[in-house]
Amino acid sequence: MVSPFEVLEVDEDADDEAVERAYRERVKRAHPDQGGSIEEFQLVRRAYRELSERDRNGDESGEENGAGPADIDLSDDGDAAGPKPTRVEFLDYEAVVDYGWSLDDDELFRKAGQADLDPDAHGRLLVQPDESLLEAAERSGFAWPFSCRGGACANCAVYLAAGELSQPTDHIMPDDLAERGFRLSCNGYPLTDELSVVFNVKQRPELDDLILPPGPFTRR
Ligand code: FES
Repeated sequence: MVSPFEVLEVDEDADDEAVERAYRERVKRAHPDQGGSIEEFQLVRRAYRELSERDRNGDESGEENGAGPADIDLSDDGDAAGPKPTRVEFLDYEAVVDYGWSLDDDELFRKAGQADLDPDAHGRLLVQPDESLLEAAERSGFAWPFSCRGGACANCAVYLAAGELSQPTDHIMPDDLAERGFRLSCNGYPLTDELSVVFNVKQRPELDDLILPPGPFTRR
């Protein structure tokens, strides 16, 4: 058993902001592309979920139910049913262009839901705990763009409208674009239980310089 505070390397009296900061730092180091492992990555996610649920349940001090956040049993896979997959709603950027929508429109996914788009342009998929977003899309039968599969281009870029997707530190995405919500799907692992993403955003002008030219392993 291990305490979620121990996993996130924060004091037990850490406030929400400190927990959030610690999580973001810790999850980067646990990322499989940074020398971590899927198991460590999942453990960090579980620790963060445990502490987040502590706050939602109002038992931060442990007074309500007489106990603090539960320790994590390293011998099991998390919940009784195992780690949860992440639910993803996706939208093809080509539809955004065709309909004249805007990426930062809060109503974007509602509009997509009413537009009767093809199932490969708008729909939902599940990302299993050991999958990147791109791997999950491919397993679900979708042909999302990619090239290097290693963080060195933006061919696999997605725009994050809701939720959070991890980003290893040695990737090509500039900070300003990452802050605006652009992420790489080939090595991005969901950090939240739900995501809304626009894929195929490599055709955005701000990503032009980061795109690899078509090659034998380039899709689309
Ligand atoms: S395919 Fe090149 S960074 Fe994802």
